[in-house]
Amino acid sequence: MSADRLIIRRPDDWHLHLRDGAMLAAVLPATARGFARAVVMPNLVPPVATVAAAAAYRNRINGTAKGGVRFTPLMTLYLTDASDPEEVEKGFNAGVVFACKLYPRDATTNAQSGVTDMARIAHVLARMEEIGVPLLVHGEVSDPEVDVFDREAVFIDRVLAPMIKDFPGLRVVLEHITTSEAVDFVGDGPDRLAATITPHHLMVDRNHMLAGGIRPHLFCLPVVKRARHREALRRIATSGHRRFFLGTDSAPHAVADKEQACGCAGIFNAPVAMEAYASVFDELGALDALENFAAHFGAAFYGLPVNEETLILERDPWTVPETVEVAGAGGRGGVRPFLAGETINWRVAGIGPPNKGPVL
Ligand code: DOR
Ligand code: ZN
Repeated sequence: MSADRLIIRRPDDWHLHLRDGAMLAAVLPATARGFARAVVMPNLVPPVATVAAAAAYRNRINGTAKGGVRFTPLMTLYLTDASDPEEVEKGFNAGVVFACKLYPRDATTNAQSGVTDMARIAHVLARMEEIGVPLLVHGEVSDPEVDVFDREAVFIDRVLAPMIKDFPGLRVVLEHITTSEAVDFVGDGPDRLAATITPHHLMVDRNHMLAGGIRPHLFCLPVVKRARHREALRRIATSGHRRFFLGTDSAPHAVADKEQACGCAGIFNAPVAMEAYASVFDELGALDALENFAAHFGAAFYGLPVNEETLILERDPWTVPETVEVAGAGGRGGVRPFLAGETINWRVAGIGPPNKGPVL
């Protein structure tokens, strides 16, 4: 397919950071203009670790979303060493908690309250397995002895593989995968195991981040790897494998927090996410695989209906803005989007009316 106009079912973002307050207000429109639903990460400070906190956060998001287009946040609970299975079950039954998120302690941004040892949450995972709550995983060890480029592969061996065996009914999503090891492990795994893939991990390898100067706006966790890993991700994303689907991991940070001696991890790709995926699929001659990846496979994995509306994409080059302003940020500046200042071939032209056509 090499059309100039592409109409797909409205997609969902199965992994997103929306933050809170002024930042939430600044970044939410970039997601809601395209995605109908998003799984919202709970790594606020303090973390979203109770049903009350998740419900209040959902209210703040819904209060920020402007009318017009439908947008549904799907909330997650942050697992800690002190997580209580009763709380998870209560939130799930009340329709507040969509999934639980595992951050290994100190593995990434705001993971200070994360889990230190899987044994401490075994009873929580057992309950999730029993009642059907999906576990979303930041798949990196935080062991300082392990090289930062190896942390995903080591996590798979040390944590994920045993967990999949120990909890044979648990539904697990390995988020934002970055390695061929993750592609193989998930691809060869059971039907209850899936993975999300970000636009930046499809477009960038570590040379983009480090060759010719360090580019802090391409720093995220798990960190981008060698080119051959990016190739493996591009192959599987466009392959039609049903257990690999879209999750942007859009993670905004103020420019001042990215550009400093110890810059934080996270790439704000919401303003350009669907456009970036479309460009990658187009480059690989796989535009006909985009709708499944973006709108069908994730919904199918989570047992949700596909969205009725459509998203219209056009081949119409545009230049990505340098910044998205954050109200009241003052000298800290706004947020710099992924691909800022670059020209991208695909553009989201809008949301279209319901498509009653065949659903996979
Ligand atoms: O790069 C990242 N940024 N990776 C994560 O896991 C968290 C995220 C954030 O919250 O900024
Ligand atoms: Zn994330």
